[in-house]
Amino acid sequence: MELREQARARLRPGNFQGHKPRAGSHRTESEAIEALGAAEGRWFDSARYRRRARVTSVAALTSTGTVKVRFEVVDGAPFHFDPGQFVGIEAHFEGLGYRRSPYCILSAPTDEPVFDLLVRVVPQGPLSQHLASLRPGDEVAFRGPTGRSMVPPDDERGLELFATGTGVAPFYSLARRLLADGHARPITLWWGLRLAEDICLTDELDALARDYPSFSYHITLSQPTAEWAGLRGRVGESVPPLLATLGAKRYYLAGNGAMLEEMAFALSDMGVDHRYIYKEPYFNGTHAADPEEIAEIRERFVATDLYSAYANRRGTGFGADLDAARSGKTGNGDPLAVSDLFDLMPAFLSHHPDREDPRPTQSKGAWGGS
Ligand SMILES: Cc1cc2nc3c(=O)[nH]c(=O)nc-3n(C[C@H](O)[C@H](O)[C@H](O)COP(=O)(O)OP(=O)(O)OC[C@H]3O[C@@H](n4cnc5c(N)ncnc54)[C@H](O)[C@@H]3O)c2cc1C
Ligand SMILES: NC(=O)c1ccc[n+]([C@@H]2O[C@H](COP(=O)([O-])OP(=O)(O)OC[C@H]3O[C@@H](n4cnc5c(N)ncnc54)[C@H](OP(=O)(O)O)[C@@H]3O)[C@@H](O)[C@H]2O)c1
Repeated sequence: MELREQARARLRPGNFQGHKPRAGSHRTESEAIEALGAAEGRWFDSARYRRRARVTSVAALTSTGTVKVRFEVVDGAPFHFDPGQFVGIEAHFEGLGYRRSPYCILSAPTDEPVFDLLVRVVPQGPLSQHLASLRPGDEVAFRGPTGRSMVPPDDERGLELFATGTGVAPFYSLARRLLADGHARPITLWWGLRLAEDICLTDELDALARDYPSFSYHITLSQPTAEWAGLRGRVGESVPPLLATLGAKRYYLAGNGAMLEEMAFALSDMGVDHRYIYKEPYFNGTHAADPEEIAEIRERFVATDLYSAYANRRGTGFGADLDAARSGKTGNGDPLAVSDLFDLMPAFLSHHPDREDPRPTQSKGAWGGS
């Protein structure tokens, strides 16, 4: 096996932030990366932004400021990446000095040294505006590709991909690669955008859905017009009621860090093991998830398969109560939501001191993130 593959095989999935892990609890990963670095002299390279890529095309995809920029690597060094990895772009600005930002690669890996980026032009954002102003023939300094691969270690689980804005980029790359490789399980993309004017890439996504029945995508608009016939609301509003089950899947979250944090906590509260939740925050990465927001998302989930399975597994017996409650009614005839069960739990436990609290995660602080 090639050295790169050997090193990758020793990396745990789930953290693709692009930082070299510290030794200690991540000794195996650290050693694997050291070995790779020694062999290839790069990847988590200390010499940064020395690579060069030339723009071959720039396409404005939306009137609200989303561009696709295609690059050809021109520094002569090999260029290989896995879906989910990103390049760091550096540019110098008068009065600001050097600015550097990472961008996930939109295109799927090919044998050619080329890559596409999907860039949101951010008001007062120097690098995003610079990228959008590039013209064919212009060159950029970059480093990478770097960061963890999003390719799952096996195809035994379906994938639920949650994106906001340009967070869709690594998912398009991932879906193309996995589908071409014959990924056996369904792959569903849930893409949160604000306005109908923000929608783009539909030709590409439609083509994937047409070519691969196991792939589907859904756009949900947080600020739709009356005519919009698709999903409405943020992903945390429109998607939970549509997921019939949560088990046997991996959950990938990319884009606005606030969405990631809140959705990850809600999924975790519903019983999804943190090993199956992958997060790639673009910004708002330090957002402190709002407990009320999490509770609202949790309440919208209709799938309680993992939750009751968890409770039963722990031998608390609460799973049976949960199943009964799920199919039954509360005293006033309303269906009992999962959040109601969370609220009722303390009272339930006080009446059943022999039962263990089955709440898996957040409230007990056991949720570890990715
Ligand atoms: C791992 C990683 C991958 C990323 N991949 C992409 C990508 O594929 N495409 C992309 O457009 N951006 C991506 N970003 C964001 C990107 O790195 C920059 O932060 C962004 O382009 C803004 O940089 P700037 O210099 O123009 O403005 P800055 O002054 O650095 O940012 C201004 C503000 O813009 C907002 N913002 C930043 N990025 C976005 C965004 N994508 N959408 C909406 N608002 C945003 C934030 O509130 C930020 O504080 C990624 C970030 C990370 C950490
Ligand atoms: N035009 C506007 O109304 C507006 C508003 C805020 C920011 N901006 C600026 O516009 C730029 C581009 O933004 P963008 O649209 O590409 O990306 P974005 O701000 O991340 O929004 C993309 C989508 O994510 C949603 N979202 C935001 N927070 C969320 C959360 N916690 N959970 C789930 N979904 C969430 C947004 O819904 P919401 O519509 O509910 O936010 C929107 O539908 C940013 O720089 C931002 O500063 C514009």
